[in-house]
Amino acid sequence: MFPTLVIAALLAIQVSAGSNKHLGKFARVVTPEVASNTTYNFVIAGGGIGGLTVADRLTEDPSITVLVIEYGPIDKGEPYVLVPGEWVPVFYWWNGITSVPQVHLNNAVYPVLMGQCVGGGSTVNAMFLHRCPAVDYDGWAALGNPGWDWDSLLPYFKKSENFTAPNPVFAQQSNITYQNSVHGFKGPVHASYSPYTYPGSGHWWEAAKAVGIPESIDPNNGNDTGLFTLLRALDPDTETRSYAKTAHYDRVSFRPNYHLLTETAVSRITFTGKTATGVQYIPVGTTQVYNVTARNEVILAAGAVHSPQILQLSGVGPKALLQSLGIPVVLDLPGVGTNFQDQLNMPVTYNFTSNVFPTADDVQNNATFFAEQLALYNSAHLGALTLTAQTGNNVVSLSLKETTTNWAALIALAASQDPASLLPPGSDPTVIAGYAAQRQQILELYASYDSAIGSISWNTGATTSVYMVKPLSRGSIKVNSTSIFDNPLVDFGAFTDPTDIELVLALVRKNRQIMAQPTMQQLGPLELTPGAALTTDDQIKTAIIAQIVPSIAHECCTLPMLPLDHGGVVDPNRLVYGLKNLRVVDVSAWPFTPGSAPSATLYAAGEKLADIIKIANGIPVIPLSTYE
Ligand SMILES: Cc1cc2nc3c(=O)[nH]c(=O)nc-3n(C[C@H](O)[C@H](O)[C@H](O)COP(=O)(O)OP(=O)(O)OC[C@H]3O[C@@H](n4cnc5c(N)ncnc54)[C@H](O)[C@@H]3O)c2cc1C
Ligand SMILES: *[C@@H]1O[C@H](CO)[C@@H](O)[C@H](O)[C@H]1NC(C)=O
Ligand SMILES: *[C@@H]1O[C@H](CO)[C@@H](O)[C@H](O)[C@H]1NC(C)=O
Ligand SMILES: *[C@@H]1O[C@H](CO)[C@@H](O)[C@H](O)[C@H]1NC(C)=O
Ligand SMILES: *[C@@H]1O[C@H](CO)[C@@H](O)[C@H](O)[C@H]1NC(C)=O
Ligand SMILES: *[C@@H]1O[C@H](CO)[C@@H](O)[C@H](O)[C@H]1NC(C)=O
Ligand SMILES: *[C@@H]1O[C@H](CO)[C@@H](O)[C@H](O)[C@H]1NC(C)=O
Ligand SMILES: *[C@@H]1O[C@H](CO)[C@@H](O)[C@H](O)[C@H]1NC(C)=O
Ligand SMILES: *[C@@H]1O[C@H](CO)[C@@H](O)[C@H](O)[C@H]1NC(C)=O
Repeated sequence: MFPTLVIAALLAIQVSAGSNKHLGKFARVVTPEVASNTTYNFVIAGGGIGGLTVADRLTEDPSITVLVIEYGPIDKGEPYVLVPGEWVPVFYWWNGITSVPQVHLNNAVYPVLMGQCVGGGSTVNAMFLHRCPAVDYDGWAALGNPGWDWDSLLPYFKKSENFTAPNPVFAQQSNITYQNSVHGFKGPVHASYSPYTYPGSGHWWEAAKAVGIPESIDPNNGNDTGLFTLLRALDPDTETRSYAKTAHYDRVSFRPNYHLLTETAVSRITFTGKTATGVQYIPVGTTQVYNVTARNEVILAAGAVHSPQILQLSGVGPKALLQSLGIPVVLDLPGVGTNFQDQLNMPVTYNFTSNVFPTADDVQNNATFFAEQLALYNSAHLGALTLTAQTGNNVVSLSLKETTTNWAALIALAASQDPASLLPPGSDPTVIAGYAAQRQQILELYASYDSAIGSISWNTGATTSVYMVKPLSRGSIKVNSTSIFDNPLVDFGAFTDPTDIELVLALVRKNRQIMAQPTMQQLGPLELTPGAALTTDDQIKTAIIAQIVPSIAHECCTLPMLPLDHGGVVDPNRLVYGLKNLRVVDVSAWPFTPGSAPSATLYAAGEKLADIIKIANGIPVIPLSTYE
C-alpha cells in the first residue's frame, strides 16, 4: 500500500540510483567474473521477495548452489529504510519509469513504483503485512490452479512469519484482536503491531462501527473484511523494518553456496532448443555481457514489470511483438505481458477545524514533534515513528455488498460487458478466453461478503486513502527495444472496464458515510478533494478521473498462472509452458489481484514454491511440521 502524499512527491522527484558499487559485509557477494566462472544449480533473476525467499530455502541444502542476480544495490541500513516513521526510501526504487498515457484518465501518465535493491519491494514498501481473503485464493485455484487455495497456503503463511502478539494493555486500548491459531512463530519475517496509535484514531474506529462495519477478529484468518488494526513487517525488539534482505539473506549469511551479484541486470535467458540453460547478465552502467549456467533451473523473480520484459527479450512472448523488434522467437506464448493489474488509490483530503493533536501529518510538518518522537524512538522504540510515515493504524476492508446497496446493478453492469471488446484489438483468443473466465470468477467474488473490493484508511491527518483493490480492467507490459536498459511500455489499462470507476465511486460515497458519523463530525472535517460541493455521481466521477492514481505499487499478474488455452504462461508448479527448466516465483504469476497487499502472500508463496522446486529436483524437503 502506498499512501497519497508520497505520490505527489514522486511526480516531482527524479533520483538516480546510487552508482557506487556497495559490496555487502558478506563474502558471498560475488563479482561478475566469479559468477560466470561458477556453474550453479539455480540462477535467480531478481533479488526481491520471491527471489530471496526461494534462494534462502534452496540453499538450506549445502550441496545446492544458487546465484541471485539483482539489478539494484544492497541498502546500507539508512533510517529511511529501517525506521518506519522516516519512510520513504526513494533511492532504492526504480526512478524515471512512467506509464504510457492512460486513455481513460485524461491521457495522464503515472510513475511505476517498484523496489530496485536487494529485497525488492520489501525494502521500500509501507510494511503492511496482510493476507488476502480466503475466497480470493480459492478463486485462483478454481481457475485451474490446484494447490493455491487458502487451505493449501495457510501452512506456508505460518512458516513464513514470526508473529509477536501485542502488549495486552495496548491491544485492549487499540482494539487489536488476533488468533494465535492462524499465525506462525518460527518464521523469518517478523509480523507485529506498531505500539502506537494516534489519539484521534478512536473517532474513526467508532464511526466505522456506526455505519455497520464489523470488527474483524483477525484479518489474517482468511476473512479480512471488516475493521482492523494494521499488522506490519516490523521487528518488535527494535521497531525496524523486517524485509526479504534481513529475513532471507542476512539471516543465512554464512552459507557459502548462496551467491549474490548486485547492480547487475539479467538481460536474457539462454536456451538450448526449448531448455533454459542459464542467463546473460550485464553489470549496470557497463556494456559487458557475461554468461552463467544453471544446471537445474532458471528462476524468474524480477517483478511484474521486468519478468515479462526479460522473457520477451529472450524470445518468449507474443510472436508479433517479438518480430516487430527483430527478436528471434524461441516460443510464441501470447500471454506474456498481458493481464497487467494494480490496485488504485483515490485520495480524499480534508480540512479539520478541531482535529486531535498529534496526527500523522505532524510527523511530516512539525519539526518539534518529529524531534520529540525521534528521541522517544531512539531511546525506547516507542511513539509515532513506529508507524510507517503518513499512515494511520486502522483500515476497513469492504466487500461490494457492504460498500453499496447498488451492488446487484454493478454486478449486472460488469456481466453485460463483452470481454473481447475491453482488451486491445487483436488480442489472442486464448487471452480473451482467460479474461472471460477470470471475470466470471471475480463476479462471484463481488457477490461474496468475504471478498474485499476496496479498503479505506484515514491517516488521522488531512488524508484518507480509498483503495480499489479488485479491478476488472487489464493492462499490459511490452518491450519497446531489444535492450534491458530501456523501459518497457507499461499500460495500467486503468478504467478500461466501466465497472471499475463505479466501484471507486461507491467507495468514495462509503467514505463520506463514515466521515458523516458523529465521532468524526466532532473533529469538523471539510472535504477538500474531491470536494464537499461535488454531490452528483457525474461530478464525483469527473473528479475521480482527474485525481485517482492507478497504482499503489501492487503491480501483478503479467505471466499468469492459468491454463495455456486461457492465456496462461505458467502452470500450477510455475513452470513456463512449452519450455524446460524455467520457473516464475514472483508476483507476475498471479492470475488476478487478491483483495489486500501482496507481500504476505509472496513470502508464503515463496516458501511453497521452494518446496515444489525441491521435490521436482530431488532435493530433500524439510517437513512443514518442523515450523509449527
Ligand atoms: C512504494 C511501495 C509500497 C508498497 N507497499 C506495500 C505494503 O505496504 N504492503 C505490501 O504487502 N506490499 C507493498 N508493496 C508491494 C510489494 O512490495 C511488492 O508487491 C513485492 O515486493 C513484489 O515482490 P516480487 O518478489 O514479485 O518482486 P520485487 O520484490 O519487486 O523484486 C523484484 C526484483 O527484481 C529486480 N529486477 C528487475 N529487473 C531485473 C533484471 N533485469 N535483472 C536483475 N534484477 C532485476 C528488481 O530490482 C527487484 O529488486 C509496495 C511496493 C512499493 C514499491
Ligand atoms: C574466470 O575464468 C577465466 C578463464 O577460465 C580465468 O582466466 C579467470 O581468472 C577467472 N576469473 C575469476 C575471477 O575466477
Ligand atoms: C521471533 O521473534 C521474537 C521477537 O523478536 C524473538 O525473540 C524470537 O527469537 C523469534 N523467533 C525465532 C524462531 O526467530
Ligand atoms: C476502540 O473501540 C471503542 C469501542 O468502539 C472505541 O470507543 C474506541 O475509540 C476505540 N479505540 C481505538 C483506538 O480505536
Ligand atoms: C467473515 O466474517 C463475516 C463477519 O465478520 C462473517 O459474516 C462471515 O461468515 C465470515 N466468513 C468466513 C469465511 O469466516
Ligand atoms: C554466451 O552464450 C551465448 C549463447 O548461449 C553465446 O552466443 C555467447 O557467445 C556467450 N558469450 C560469452 C561471453 O561467453
Ligand atoms: C481550513 O480551516 C481553517 C481553520 O481551521 C481555515 O482558516 C481555512 O480557511 C480552511 N481552509 C479551507 C480551504 O477551507
Ligand atoms: C508541534 O509539536 C509540539 C511538540 O509536541 C507542540 O507543542 C506544538 O503545539 C506543535 N505545533 C503545532 C502547530 O501543532
Ligand atoms: C519507445 O521507443 C521509441 C522508439 O525508440 C521511443 O521514441 C519512445 O520514447 C519509447 N517509449 C518509451 C515510453 O520509452
